[in-house]
Amino acid sequence: MQPLFKGRHFITLEEWTKPEIDKLLEVSYQLKHDFLHNVPTPYLQDKTAFLMFFEQSTRTRNSMEAGLAQLGGHATFLDTSMMQVSHGESAKDTAIILSSYGHGIACRNCFWEVGNKYLREMAAWSTVPIISLQDDLFHPMQALADLMTIQEVKGETKHLKVSIIWAYATSHKKPISVPLSQILLFPRYAMDVTLAYPKGYELPDWAIAKAKMNAAANGGSFRITHDMKEAFTGADIVIPKNWGSWVSNQSKAVVDDLLEANRGWKCTEEMIALGMPDVKYMHALPADRGNEVVDSVIDGPHSIVYQEAENRLHTAKAVMAMVMGNK
Ligand code: CP
Repeated sequence: MQPLFKGRHFITLEEWTKPEIDKLLEVSYQLKHDFLHNVPTPYLQDKTAFLMFFEQSTRTRNSMEAGLAQLGGHATFLDTSMMQVSHGESAKDTAIILSSYGHGIACRNCFWEVGNKYLREMAAWSTVPIISLQDDLFHPMQALADLMTIQEVKGETKHLKVSIIWAYATSHKKPISVPLSQILLFPRYAMDVTLAYPKGYELPDWAIAKAKMNAAANGGSFRITHDMKEAFTGADIVIPKNWGSWVSNQSKAVVDDLLEANRGWKCTEEMIALGMPDVKYMHALPADRGNEVVDSVIDGPHSIVYQEAENRLHTAKAVMAMVMGNK
């Protein structure tokens, strides 16, 4: 396999053209096939990537670590609380030094108004690709796996009604990067995207404007509603998920009056029944069971969350294989 995108940073899919994303998906499908048929895929033999995590992770860390091993390379997991970063070492110094040791640096930093800037600063100094594992604005690995899953399940994506719906949760104040990445990417594949949320959970104005532009340029559509039932009605795909009120309220408090006023935003069987008969339920996971969604939905026949999570492995491998070539 040629590392066609050798040296490219992977921070937001907005910086990747549609044919380039299609190529990443093509490689993801091939790697999925090869993984399921035990076909060796040593495309990154002797390559090393450093995985820096400022936050917790299950899917992202393990899809990257397992994925790089399956490609013949090695991933070093770095808990940033154990790095000199925690004593104030700069992104610049960290990027220059780690890039002199290996072939890729991947990082999760979701701190509001910090994370994306941190990745950009590393990208300015690194001599190897910077791969986002989620920041405060974007989660490109998740969005790519979501797109792959929708294609697998639905085939044609044109004019699918895809509803990205805010949901009540108390586990932590979550980043906006998953819904933000989805509203930017899905209209590029001509989906009819509905974004639904209670007032107070807005996404940034620039992202809304860009989502509309992406829809207009690619034959999709994008609209906003504050009516949860309207978003579920007639949907082909529903993605009910919590995100924090970061745009209007930078407090890190998880539970506040606004959140509690919207306990009713939950994905129940009644909501699923409003969708198309074969509506699919997606969630990036981890889900706040009982709050965002009832067990009978996430464990039920409409749910494709485990397929979605599995595809994180195949898409992560595709990204690494395509950007981490020989130095
Ligand atoms: N969806 C996702 O990024 O999961 P983790 O936080 O477990 O990596």
